[in-house]
Amino acid sequence: MLHARAFAGQGRAWAAREFATLLESPHVFAEGDARAFALGRVAADEAELLTLATDPVHRRTGLGRAVLAAFERSAHQRGATLAFLEVAENNRAALALYTATGFAETSRRPGYYATGAGRIDAVLMQKPLPA
Ligand SMILES: CC(C)(COP(=O)(O)OP(=O)(O)OC[C@H]1O[C@@H](n2cnc3c(N)ncnc32)[C@H](O)[C@@H]1OP(=O)(O)O)[C@@H](O)C(=O)NCCC(=O)NCCS
Repeated sequence: MLHARAFAGQGRAWAAREFATLLESPHVFAEGDARAFALGRVAADEAELLTLATDPVHRRTGLGRAVLAAFERSAHQRGATLAFLEVAENNRAALALYTATGFAETSRRPGYYATGAGRIDAVLMQKPLPA
């Protein structure tokens, strides 16, 4: 079962209704459980990581890495040869996870996210599947 409450994926919280609508698509898939999950979408040979989150009480126990690997496996099985994502430039934990697992920055969307301290970039990252 997916929990939308505590998770602020791409710089903002997701509403439960957004998850429900996305999961109605045959191209969207979820990996993980109530402790940590990833949501992905495959279009042709590309897979997008829509969001990835670990419940705060379970962080730094390897669950984020595990669901990211499950996303990649599932995306590859669904025909994707490339995974991509975007992440706020100040999201240190996510950037560290993505870099450690082979994602590389390809470009940026300047000032894409609004924060209390001003606008910050979205970092676009890619990884070949399987890598
Ligand atoms: C990013 C997130 C999913 C990581 O989940 P996690 O389950 O804590 O990650 P893991 O325990 O699998 O960590 C794997 C690696 O990621 C890196 N990492 C994770 N959290 C980190 C942190 N707070 N600071 C620095 N590096 C971190 C480390 O390299 C870590 O390996 P290590 O523990 O052996 O050092 C989690 O912090 C989260 O849910 N954040 C809020 C939601 C979010 O920002 N999602 C990403 C949207 S793009």
